[in-house]
Amino acid sequence: MAESMKSGFYPGSFDPLTNGHIDILERSFQLVDRLVVGIGTSAGKTPLFTIEERHAMLTEELSPRAKKANCAIEIITFDGLLVDAAKNLNVQLIIRGLRNGADFDYEAQMIAMNRIMSPEIEVICLAAGPDTGFISSTLVRQIARMKGDVTPFLPSAVAKKLIEKMAE
Ligand code: PNS
Repeated sequence: MAESMKSGFYPGSFDPLTNGHIDILERSFQLVDRLVVGIGTSAGKTPLFTIEERHAMLTEELSPRAKKANCAIEIITFDGLLVDAAKNLNVQLIIRGLRNGADFDYEAQMIAMNRIMSPEIEVICLAAGPDTGFISSTLVRQIARMKGDVTPFLPSAVAKKLIEKMAE
């Protein structure tokens, strides 16, 4: 990797990947030369999609977008602390999306605690775009369970997989 290459780490649960994630990811591609997307196995959450399913969905959706933006992309999974994953990847910049005040409160707390554990790691939060800032993976799963239309909120291939998952 070139010394001057700027790397970023975008972590999330991606259960599933939404148009809101895509907005933040596409903007992140413009900020760094290499973006590592980390699928975290959040403690206390029972995911709908397996890690393997999420990894496959992210690869399918993000690889062409990153290529178009000329940004190197790696999609990984991690199950420990976010700051440890960032250190292992040799990435000093974490990128997160912010949709609303609830996100701000959650992120501010995590940023402060992560900073105490690893002050060398910086976090930037990108404000969600107006077209996608209301989208939540949790609510998308709820809509899908109740047989609602999830297509406005997801990339079409992800919506298809979610509908198939609900039919299982
Ligand atoms: O998409 P999400 O659900 O907001 O992603 C949450 C994630 C995976 C980024 C978060 O749960 C996380 O950072 N997990 C790693 C565990 C960790 O570092 N916990 C301490 C935070 S101070």
